[in-house]
Amino acid sequence: MGSEKSNLVRINRRLGVLISGRGSNLQALVEAIREGRLDAEIAIVISNREDAAGLERARAAGIEAIVLSHRGWPSRDEYDRALARELKARNVGLVCLAGFMRLVGVPLIDAFPHAILNIHPSLLPAFPGIDAQRQAVEHGAKVSGVTVHFVTAELDGGPIILQRSVEVLENDTAATLAARILEQEHRAYPEAVQIVLEGGWSVDGRRFVRSRRPVST
Ligand code: GRF
Repeated sequence: MGSEKSNLVRINRRLGVLISGRGSNLQALVEAIREGRLDAEIAIVISNREDAAGLERARAAGIEAIVLSHRGWPSRDEYDRALARELKARNVGLVCLAGFMRLVGVPLIDAFPHAILNIHPSLLPAFPGIDAQRQAVEHGAKVSGVTVHFVTAELDGGPIILQRSVEVLENDTAATLAARILEQEHRAYPEAVQIVLEGGWSVDGRRFVRSRRPVST
């Protein structure tokens, strides 16, 4: 992999947020925008599940929120293409996965090169996949945390934009650790989105490099 410059000018500030459940990270993005910590606009929230509580959070904030079930498509790729169509139809520039419990495939990744972010509740590359907080506790890790990264075809393996560490305490359960990590998630996600939207970065191999002062747009 060679050095690839980010296409700063092409990244617009319209976010598409993909969820499957609770939507607390979506809420953190909404609040950061409201409070002026994140200079962006959420154009659409898409859930693959109709019972996702995050849909109500979005609607309460006046954001269009739709259900696009992953069921009934002839293939995974067809579902990904449908997601890309809905996002492009709203002129989305950056896609934020926020508890979206689906593997994102090549058609969506290709439609948004270096423009899909995910938040994961561990310090990657430790503990990828589901139940990352339980993995950390069961492994006996002393430190875990949160990672915001670009989405690539490799599960939880894309270039890391930002990480925050969280100490694992002696008496932590998966649930108590998850709660403390979640507090950090809610700070880290808006911060990482803002960093990406400000520009002045490039992706060199698998490294996200902040190479110069932010570009003001
Ligand atoms: C978060 O822990 C996030 O890191 C993981 O899924 C969870 C989603 O929580 N990818 P919420 O729906 O944002 O509350």
